[in-house]
Amino acid sequence: MNHDIACIGAGYIGGPTMAVIAQKNPGRKVVVVDINAERIAAWNSPDFALPVYEPGLVDVVREVRGRNLFFSTDIAAAVRQCDIVFVGVNTPTKTFGRGAGMASDLQFWEATARDIKRYAEGPKIVVEKSTLPVRTAAAMEAILNDHAEHRFTVLSNPEFLAEGTAIRDLLEPDRVLIGGPQDEDGLAAIEECAAIYASWVPRERILTTNVWSAELTKLAANAFLAQRVSSINAIAGLCEATGADVDEVARVIGADRRIGPKFLKAGPGFGGSCFKKDVLNLVYLCESFGLHTAAEYWRGVIRMNEHQQERIVSRLVREMFNTLASKRIALFGFAFKADTGDTRETPAGVVARLLAEEHARIAVTDPKALPNARRDLADLEGVEFTEDEYAAAEGADAIVLMTDWRHYPSLDWQRLFDSMRKPALVFDTRNCLDADALRAIGFRVLHIGK
Ligand code: NAD
Ligand code: UGA
Repeated sequence: MNHDIACIGAGYIGGPTMAVIAQKNPGRKVVVVDINAERIAAWNSPDFALPVYEPGLVDVVREVRGRNLFFSTDIAAAVRQCDIVFVGVNTPTKTFGRGAGMASDLQFWEATARDIKRYAEGPKIVVEKSTLPVRTAAAMEAILNDHAEHRFTVLSNPEFLAEGTAIRDLLEPDRVLIGGPQDEDGLAAIEECAAIYASWVPRERILTTNVWSAELTKLAANAFLAQRVSSINAIAGLCEATGADVDEVARVIGADRRIGPKFLKAGPGFGGSCFKKDVLNLVYLCESFGLHTAAEYWRGVIRMNEHQQERIVSRLVREMFNTLASKRIALFGFAFKADTGDTRETPAGVVARLLAEEHARIAVTDPKALPNARRDLADLEGVEFTEDEYAAAEGADAIVLMTDWRHYPSLDWQRLFDSMRKPALVFDTRNCLDADALRAIGFRVLHIGK
């Protein structure tokens, strides 16, 4: 068995993860493959115009691409050459048939398993990197090992990195999780996988479990994080009604070491490709096992999140004299969080659609996410897109700050104010601007939870 690594799926997960693995394992060849030739071409582009924006990623790729990291569309060759095969393909929410709207769509994963079986010329360790429903590994193992010439061992090694901090999270993970069969074969495979990470992650942070625990842990971890965001957003509405300040409440709650300060920032609700998908997946699993009350509990996390975006638009309508028709609203930020161009499930998309229903005129500005924003809102008429915040605000009645891009607080807010129609309103859904300074300029200011 060689120690080279293939990764099927060159997306947000496959690309950055394998770049760091290659950087820290110079003795191993790492080949990342994808069916999307355009994506692979972007990973290979001479000017490093990579398909994924992540701070620090270009530097890592620059160091290792062509040394021991390779991007290719030749899945067969990668599977043949490498005895450890990671799978990081997408697992979106199913849109059809049983479990539509909740369960994971596993067709890409299964196609990959069949590819691995077809091309393998020896035993392989197959590592689930994608987030998958509990017991997927069993299904994969059944497909792979049914009348197989070679032995396949399936491990679960879910990824916990967050977008925008992917490289930092990969370099200094709180933990790496590897789940595998608890037999001799499985334990040896776990050790083989652990050795990849042990070249830079302290051993005590590499946690091993059985496969099912690993698969479920990933869903549970995302559900817990999403639940914290929904919990603080539920408190935010109450703060607005009572005169409490959600940032003060969060600061004090978070000072309790049993609770901790992270993931207590009230805002427009969580977005991103995974929280909603993974919580829905958990709901579906609970339903499937007859755990209806548990399913309802987790469904509430999603409901609260959707309510937060509806609340933003309702408040805006109320504060803007009960009509938004023909008013120009500038959305500052479209990415689901700062430091990424990703707009999957972004709250800004939901807010844009709700504003369009009110017949508002929308201008979207974002430093990284405009190509995705244009695609997401292609069906809405008359939306303007500009990287220039001042152009977006020109003649606007309101600025709705949706993403906490670091440079937004230091924009020239006087200049923005001067170019807007009066009364000019700022709705800071991230509570990241200096509200007193804005009020001193003459803005009307709304926040979340105050
Ligand atoms: P993505 O859509 O960015 O990338 C997936 C890639 O897989 C695409 O480029 C697609 O072309 C490719 N692909 C699909 N089917 C294929 C096949 N049969 N053969 C070869 N390539 C194929 O998705 P992503 O954001 O990287 O997420 C991948 C998985 O990782 C998901 O299960 C997700 O839940 C999980 N995850 C994502 C993040 C994140 O921050 N995005 C974090 C942790 C876990
Ligand atoms: C999340 C998890 O943090 C990762 O551990 C996980 O690997 C990943 O999902 C995944 O499985 O895909 P990500 O979605 O990239 O990472 O970003 P987060 O930083 O978790 O933010 C998610 C959303 O919650 C964002 O919209 C963010 O603005 C929002 N959020 C986060 C808040 O509104 N308040 C907070 O306090 C924290």
